Amino acid sequence: MKKWLAAMMAAVLCMSLLTACGSTVKEEVTEETAQTEQAETEETTQEETSAEDTAAVSEALADGVLNVGTNAEFPPFEYVNDAGEPDGFDIALIKAIGEKLGVEVQVDNMEFASLVSSIGSKIDASIAGMTVTDERKASVDFSNSYYTAVQYVILPEGSAIATADDLKGKAIGVQLGTTGDFIAEEIEDATVSQYNKAVDAVNDLVNGRLDCVIIDKNPAMVFESKFEGKVTAVDGAQFNFEPEDYAIAMPKGDTVLVEQVNTALQELIDDGTFDALVSQYIEEN
Ligand code: ARG
Repeated sequence: MKKWLAAMMAAVLCMSLLTACGSTVKEEVTEETAQTEQAETEETTQEETSAEDTAAVSEALADGVLNVGTNAEFPPFEYVNDAGEPDGFDIALIKAIGEKLGVEVQVDNMEFASLVSSIGSKIDASIAGMTVTDERKASVDFSNSYYTAVQYVILPEGSAIATADDLKGKAIGVQLGTTGDFIAEEIEDATVSQYNKAVDAVNDLVNGRLDCVIIDKNPAMVFESKFEGKVTAVDGAQFNFEPEDYAIAMPKGDTVLVEQVNTALQELIDDGTFDALVSQYIEEN
């Protein structure tokens, strides 16, 4: 039973107790019954919520629903499955977190670049292989990190690009608003093309319109196998790119929600669910 439902039932019971005040014997019996019922309700509530955080519940979860924004253009973390639904590691992870918190998870597939600004209004949180950056931290709070990655460079087969210097002056494709985009914009004389969908950038690379695509490690590896023989994914460490930490973004200042999500995440790590999801979604490809 949801906490809010239990609270509402308790409120209704309290009201009936008030109505029963200053009453006849018959009403006192009713009152006793009501008290027993209330006690029973409390017991049931405690039993059913034991897996949930016993501390305060975030306002964001008060309706029993966690609305999560993602951008399902980032396999294996998020993609649209054959049934047309957002799927992938992040989606499975946030659903498992929702289960721990006793709330329903609703996933909203949106543009990556509008996720951060939608948190706290259109969505309660975002899970999207999102890197923790100081700039983002100015407008949202992050959970503990659940994955470490690095930007990769996707090159057409036979490309001569091999060092950071080689990237200067090149035509680089990125997904709009991503850390790959921010890195590319810093590269001297580079012409950066921003795409809403990473796969469109890879298509342009294959068609000879770009010299390379800068994108996170795991999607780069998925694209390498998807466009087999046409592109190679190269570790960004070779280009001096720094490791990045992925985390779930939440409204700035909602420490209760952050705490709840971190607790649930830790529980999933401790009970082995997290590792099972890693092997199911990430290590498979
Ligand atoms: N890690 C990169 C970032 O935070 C890229 C994330 C892109 N995610 C997505 N679902 N399209 O900027």
